[in-house]
Amino acid sequence: MKRAKQILVPSLIALFVLGGALALTWAADTPALSGITVEDEHPNGCVDCHRNAGEGKDYRLNGALEEMDHPDVSALVKTVPQDCGMCHKAGTPTGSLSLRVHKIHYEEPSENHFIAYYQGECLACHTLNTATGVMSVKNGPKNW
Ligand code: HEC
Ligand code: HEC
Ligand code: HEC
Repeated sequence: MKRAKQILVPSLIALFVLGGALALTWAADTPALSGITVEDEHPNGCVDCHRNAGEGKDYRLNGALEEMDHPDVSALVKTVPQDCGMCHKAGTPTGSLSLRVHKIHYEEPSENHFIAYYQGECLACHTLNTATGVMSVKNGPKNW
C-alpha cells in the first residue's frame, strides 16, 4: 500500500506538470481565430468596430461615408452590410461590396489600421462554420 502511494503520488504530480505544459504549449501555438479558437469579439461584424467609442472617437459608418462624399443612404440601410449590397453589385459602376470593403481594409498594408490593430483577420467580418465549412458575412443592425 505504502509502495503504491510512493509511485502514485509522484506519477500524479508528473502528470499535472506535463498536462500544464501541454496546455500552455497549445495556448502559445494556437492562432487566435475569432469564433473558432477564441471568443469572437465582433460577432456583428462592421458595426462592432464602426461604433461610437466615446471620447470623440466616433467610428460609425454614417459619418465615415459622409466624409467620403458617399450618397446619403441612412434611410435605406437597416442591416449592415447586407443592405449596402442593394447598390453595391458586381459589374455595376457602384462596385461590388466585396471589392469595396476588401480594398479599404487591405490597401496600403504598411499603414492600414485594420491590419495593424486587427491583424487583417478575415474572421472580423466573416464566419466559418467548422462543421459544414460554410463561410458567410456577419451582419448587424445599423447603429446610427
Ligand atoms: C475588426 C474591426 C473592423 C471591422 C469588423 C470592420 N472594419 Fe471597417 N475599418 C476598420 C479600420 C481599423 C479602418 C481604418 C482602415 C485604415 O487605416 O484606413 C476601417 C475603415 C473602413 C472604412 C473607411 C472609412 C473609415 O472609417 O476609415 C469603411 C467605409 C469601412 N471600414 C467599412 C466597413 C464595413 C462595411 C465593414 C463590414 C463589412 C467593416 N468596415 C468592418 C475596422 C473594421
Ligand atoms: C443607394 C445606393 C447605395 C447604397 C445603399 C450604398 N452605396 Fe456605397 N456607393 C454608392 C455609389 C453611387 C458610390 C460611388 C461610386 C463611384 O462613383 O465611385 C458608392 C461608393 C462607395 C464606396 C467607395 C467610396 C470611395 O470614395 O472610394 C464605399 C466604401 C461604399 N460605397 C460603401 C458603402 C457601404 C459600407 C454601404 C452601406 C452602409 C453603402 N456603400 C451603401 C451607392 C450606394
Ligand atoms: C472588413 C470586412 C471584411 C474582411 C476583413 C474580409 N472580408 Fe471578405 N467579404 C466582405 C464582404 C462585405 C463581402 C461581400 C458580401 C456580399 O456580397 O454579400 C465579402 C466577400 C468575400 C468573398 C466572396 C467572393 C466575392 O468576392 O464576392 C470571399 C471569397 C471573401 N470575402 C474572402 C475573404 C478573405 C479570404 C478575407 C481575409 C483575407 C476576407 N474576405 C476579409 C467583408 C470582409
